[in-house]
Amino acid sequence: MKQKIIMNIILASSMLFVFSGVVHAAGDATAAKEKSSMCEGCHGIGGGYKTAFPTVYHVPKIGGQHEEYLVKALEGYKNGTRSHPTMTALVKSLSDQDIKDFAAYYAGN
Ligand code: HEC
Repeated sequence: MKQKIIMNIILASSMLFVFSGVVHAAGDATAAKEKSSMCEGCHGIGGGYKTAFPTVYHVPKIGGQHEEYLVKALEGYKNGTRSHPTMTALVKSLSDQDIKDFAAYYAGN
């Protein structure tokens, strides 16, 4: 009986381990942090989310959004269901992994 409980604990903790591995593979926030300089010029500006380049205009706040939402939004620019000249051009240069990384990064920031 006692052995069964111990086995269950081992099983449960190893499953947790596998699960955290999956989450890591889904989106690597640390990897995106290094790449985020290409987004920071527009997103990540405090106070009103206005960018000064090329003219003063609003950008949506992406920090703290749901990871799933961010992935959907970025994929939308990539596959054409969303269109915006800047975002479409940018996202076309991103891999699927980059998109997941950015989503993980901005979801936590
Ligand atoms: C030149 C300015 C600029 C840069 C650089 C830029 N964005 Fe954007 N982004 C925008 C604008 C403007 C929008 C709103 C577009 C629209 O109306 O669909 C937007 C929209 C988004 C959205 C959708 C948000 C929403 O709530 O609908 C996401 C997600 C996003 N950007 C992520 C990124 C990421 C990640 C990067 C870096 C790889 C990046 N952006 C770089 C200007 C920029």
